[in-house]
Amino acid sequence: MKILEDRIRQDGTVLPGNVLKVDNFLNHQIDPQLMDQMGAEFARQFANQGITKVLTVESSGIAPAVMAGLHLQVPVIFARKHKSLTLTDNLYTAKVYSYTKQVSNDISIDRRFLDANDRVLIIDDFLANGQAVQGLFDIAETAGIAVAGVGVVIEKRFQKGHQLVVDAGVPLVALASIASFEDGQVVFTQD
Ligand code: G4P
Ligand code: NA
Ligand code: NA
Repeated sequence: MKILEDRIRQDGTVLPGNVLKVDNFLNHQIDPQLMDQMGAEFARQFANQGITKVLTVESSGIAPAVMAGLHLQVPVIFARKHKSLTLTDNLYTAKVYSYTKQVSNDISIDRRFLDANDRVLIIDDFLANGQAVQGLFDIAETAGIAVAGVGVVIEKRFQKGHQLVVDAGVPLVALASIASFEDGQVVFTQD
């Protein structure tokens, strides 16, 4: 998405450790008009897929997920993050391991909000190692629901998450796809 790539070039900062800081439109301050355009693009790309719900993980996934849900006209559910839980009878839970933080957290969704007929679209802000997406795949499997696609605002193609989604056979849409960072500049993939 050209407008997003331009915004990343204009406002993004490349930090050590291959981290892209985009906190003036996505991760802290949010640009609602850009978010709306991105939601429309996700809805366009996943139209006619029979999507019944959008799933994400709190907190930075919520803004793009809500806009996708608005344009698809379906509800949006965000998984909550917790330390490992003991009382989980009414919850679907999955473990999400963070390579960067080297900690494992649980994410959970109340069972009331998913049912076997659902076809979900997973939305997130970043696709890096893909552990959040894997956690949502795990919940979808436990709940017996179909994952129709994964949509991310920004993917870092050089990390594991892209291949993880492709290997799962799930259609992936990244609105911006970063091939690499070179001398503090973002290099987008060509395709
Ligand atoms: P990890 O295993 O390396 O930790 O990668 P993972 O894909 O699990 O990402 C961990 C967190 O870091 C996620 O947010 C993810 O969105 C974020 N992240 C990954 N790469 C980048 C990047 O280049 N820039 C920015 N700004 N964030 C990145 P989270 O901790 O789950 O939190 P939240 O922001 O959604 O609350
Ligand atoms: Na996120
Ligand atoms: Na994040």
